[in-house]
Amino acid sequence: MRTPIIAGNWKLHKTVDEACDLVTALSAQIAEVSDVEVIVAPVFTSLAGVAAALKGSKITLAAQNCFPEPQGAYTGEVSPALLKDVGCSAVIVGHSERRQLFGETDTFINRKVKALLEAGLQPIFCIGETLDEREGGEMYDVLQRQVHKGLEGLSSEQMQKIVIAYEPVWAIGTGKTASTEQAAEAHAFIRGLVSGLFDNVTAEAVRILYGGSVKPDNVDALMAEADVDGALVGGASLKADDFARIVRFKPTKG
Ligand code: PGA
Repeated sequence: MRTPIIAGNWKLHKTVDEACDLVTALSAQIAEVSDVEVIVAPVFTSLAGVAAALKGSKITLAAQNCFPEPQGAYTGEVSPALLKDVGCSAVIVGHSERRQLFGETDTFINRKVKALLEAGLQPIFCIGETLDEREGGEMYDVLQRQVHKGLEGLSSEQMQKIVIAYEPVWAIGTGKTASTEQAAEAHAFIRGLVSGLFDNVTAEAVRILYGGSVKPDNVDALMAEADVDGALVGGASLKADDFARIVRFKPTKG
């Protein structure tokens, strides 16, 4: 059985005080939830404050990005070890906004995945096709390339520590969620890729989250799909009520 994960990606939102208020409200609202791993990923500047606000809470802390070197002359960058030092247990890598807006390549993302594993942090490894790629019939090739290159050179044991987030780019921040069929199809394909690259036991153990306009009113149907092991939530993770409802999803076949 794969324990579901609901992760909130706050992107570039919230001051330190706002971030601390949000996790305090969220912790209170989901205090009774025990069978779901809940992760929040604030802006770098809020990590220390949120880590302090989360003392004693079951919610764990993630960063939204990292640099793959431990230290050195890399102005403006943050290493996995420093993120661990501030209280993170996971880091999002390969988000489509980083790929598209900041030119991150599969090879660079692979270096980050390896650096995170080396530092003892859990990579939340994001992949997904654009609308053009989907409509041009390239979706499977794109996902295969992202998985093969992004996860190159890992052992099965390392792979089992990674969380994959399938985020179709056309569904991110657009209010346009993938249908349950589209999500189910992509997730099954990705699990098959992991099986081919590693082995079946590893593929069955890896959690694959769906991301892209996940909201309180669509999470139940998405979570009813066998290969959907959780959600990476952007916009709806910024409000305690909405995110708490997503954390308390009730899988319901549509
Ligand atoms: P969204 O973002 O939920 O606002 O679509 C998801 C993400 O980018 O991780």
